[in-house]
This record gives sequence, C-alpha cells and structure tokens, in this order.
Amino acid sequence: MMGCFWCCFNQKRTNRKKGIRDFKESRQDSFPGFSRGNDSFRRSYIRDEIAKYGKREISSQYFTYEELSAATKNFSYNNLIGEGGFGRVYKGHIANKNTDIAVKKLDRNGYQGNREFLVEVLLLSLLHHTNLVNLLGYCSDGEQRILVYKYMPNGSLEDHLFNWRVGELKPLEWDIRIKIATGAARGLEYLHNKADPPVIYRDLKASNILLDEEWNPRLSDFGLAKLAPTGEQTHITTKVMGTYGYCAPEYALTGRLTRKSDVYSFGVVFLEIITGRRVIDCSGPSEEQNLIAWAAPLFKDRRKFHLMADSSLEGRYPMKGLYQALAVTAMCLQEDATKRPVMSQVVSALEYLTSGQNEEQPTGDGDSSSEE
Ligand SMILES: Nc1ncnc2c1ncn2[C@@H]1O[C@H](COP(=O)(O)OP(=O)(O)OP(=O)(O)O)[C@@H](O)[C@H]1O
Ligand SMILES: [Mg+2]
Repeated sequence: MMGCFWCCFNQKRTNRKKGIRDFKESRQDSFPGFSRGNDSFRRSYIRDEIAKYGKREISSQYFTYEELSAATKNFSYNNLIGEGGFGRVYKGHIANKNTDIAVKKLDRNGYQGNREFLVEVLLLSLLHHTNLVNLLGYCSDGEQRILVYKYMPNGSLEDHLFNWRVGELKPLEWDIRIKIATGAARGLEYLHNKADPPVIYRDLKASNILLDEEWNPRLSDFGLAKLAPTGEQTHITTKVMGTYGYCAPEYALTGRLTRKSDVYSFGVVFLEIITGRRVIDCSGPSEEQNLIAWAAPLFKDRRKFHLMADSSLEGRYPMKGLYQALAVTAMCLQEDATKRPVMSQVVSALEYLTSGQNEEQPTGDGDSSSEE
C-alpha cells in the first residue's frame, strides 16, 4: 500500500533551479562582525549585507524602539502572546497603517542572538512565499534586537495540536491538518528548490508553523537556516542545532546537513499532526515518550494504522487518507536519508491526497474493507 501510493509520485526530479549563485562555504557559515560598532554601523551593515546577497526588492522596514513601544503599549504584559528561546513575543498595532503585528524582542545580547537576528532579517528580506512568515521589519536601536512580523491570528500549530484544551480551542479537523501539512511542505519546497539562494531551514517544528485566519501555514524563525549546498557539493558540515526530536539522525550524529534533514523534520511534524502527540513527551508512559519509537511497530502493520490517528478526531477522517498520509510520513522518516523523498515529491503526494483523485485509484492491496 505504502509503496504503491508513493510510486505514483516517484517521478524524476527536474532541476528547476538554473544559475544558482555560487556562495562560498565561509559565507554559508558566518555573517561576521555584527556585534561591533554603533547604531548607524549596525543599520548600514544589515543593508550592505542584504544588498550583497539579494537581487530583489528588499521589503523589510526599519522601526524605531519608540514606534514599537507605542505599538505594544510599552511591551505590556497584556500584549504578551508567547515566549521562545530568544525572547518574548508581543501583539502590537500600528495605528497609521491599521495593521496588527507580532513583535519578537530578543532578550539576549550574546553572539548567538545577534547572529540569528541578522540571519533572520537577511533571509526573510530575500525570501517571499505564501507559506513563509512575513517579516515587516526590524529594530536594532542600541542593544535592542527586535523583529516585526505580520500578526498570525491563529497562533502556532503547537497550540492547536497539543495545547487546545488549555487554550479552550477546538481540536483541528482532518482536512485542516492536511491543509497545514501541504502548506508547510510547499514552504520547504520553495526554500529547497525555488528560493535564490536555496536554503535549508533546519528548525521545522510545530511551534514554528504559524497559522493565519484561514489556517494557511507560514514557516517562521529563520535564525538557524543555512544556505543549501549547490553544484557539486552534497552537504554542508555545521554545528548540530535545532530542536531535539525533530533533528534527522544522520545530522545529529555527524553534523552533515542536507535538504533531506528538513525532509525528516517534516516527517516528524506530519506524524505529530496525524497523531496529536508530541515527538518527545515525558509526561506519558515510558513506551510513549518518543513518538517515532512508539509509531515504529504500528507502521509495520496496516491493521494498526487507525491507532495512530489522533483520538480527538473521534474517527472523523477518511481511512484511505489516513493510510496515504502515513505512507508519506514513513517515507520522510526513513533512517537512510538517500531513500527519503525530496520536498517536491512530498508536495505532489499531498496535493494528490487532497485533490480527491485518489478516491478513484485502486488501493492495490486487495483489501478495501476498512476504507471509506
Ligand atoms: N507572527 C506571529 N503571529 C502570532 N503569534 C506569533 C507570531 N510569532 C510568534 N508568535 C507566538 O509566539 C510564540 C513564541 O514564538 P517563538 O518563535 O519566539 O518561540 P518558539 O517557536 O515557541 O520556540 P523557539 O524559540 O525554539 O523557536 C509562538 O508559539 C506563537 O504562539
Ligand atoms: Mg519559533
């Protein structure tokens, strides 16, 4: 079943990217010198770097600390909407543009914070896609490092998958889950194959998938992203970063990063979407704490596939759709990175899954008794 479904999409990958710019390895790994100097140095440094790397129009705007302070009512606790490893996130409103914004205020001034701030500004100024977060601008007044995004009214996928009871939200319906997975896959496909320069995202996880009012997903947090290898290069070697559980095993072991590392992380997120379980959850029984280990024996027996569907769906999902979604997940989670699909194949598979065409396809296993 898994093989049959997957084979439909296992077409030869066409190299859509022509004339990829040849970035030197040293540029891939560092954006040096940002922490030095005064405000005007910092501002011109960012603009110079963007100009050096980018060929397109730069859309991000410079905000002053006063403007952002006014927009967030002086970074008031009432405006706090989240907190991550790099600081607090506040909801704000820009009155003269009548726009809601999310303001991410870095609270560390160390090298790491600076570097990730700069990578985020650089990359999001160059990359534009409907499934990537919109960076409206940034502020680097004094010691401040602040990122300004378009506000995403439905927050993060993490809230809707794992925290819905706490937040008094409703569990996500099956179709919305597949819509989110498809959009996230399209975002990654864009980064890997269409973006100029191509990028490995490195930090795909449920909390970094933000949702707009129509449940369209946007990937956020590009501070860990790397320029992808081009030409003869197959990988880049870099410090292992990312979030435990989402990291591809070969990258965690060797530091060799490829686009297939993102494909693995996508498999993890898709399995979280299907099961409603966190990849690592220390609160449950020991055999259920690691999602991948818990799912491994279930993947081997199709009669147990239904045990992987999120119980909060209460059976409201097409059995065939569940099988196909799990087939995609299993392919992405393969230990051997070379056997994982590329993101364009994942996107095609998910588009097929949502198109309704799959209803006409035979299952190929001679047993459709449990399928709708
Ligand atoms: N543009 C946005 N619109 C609405 N809410 C947002 C936006 N950006 C971030 N948030 C909220 O802020 C929370 C924290 O985001 P943040 O990226 O700082 O941390 P994280 O993703 O949870 O962890 P990490 O630091 O490891 O990335 C998100 O989970 C989300 O709820
Ligand atoms: Mg995040």
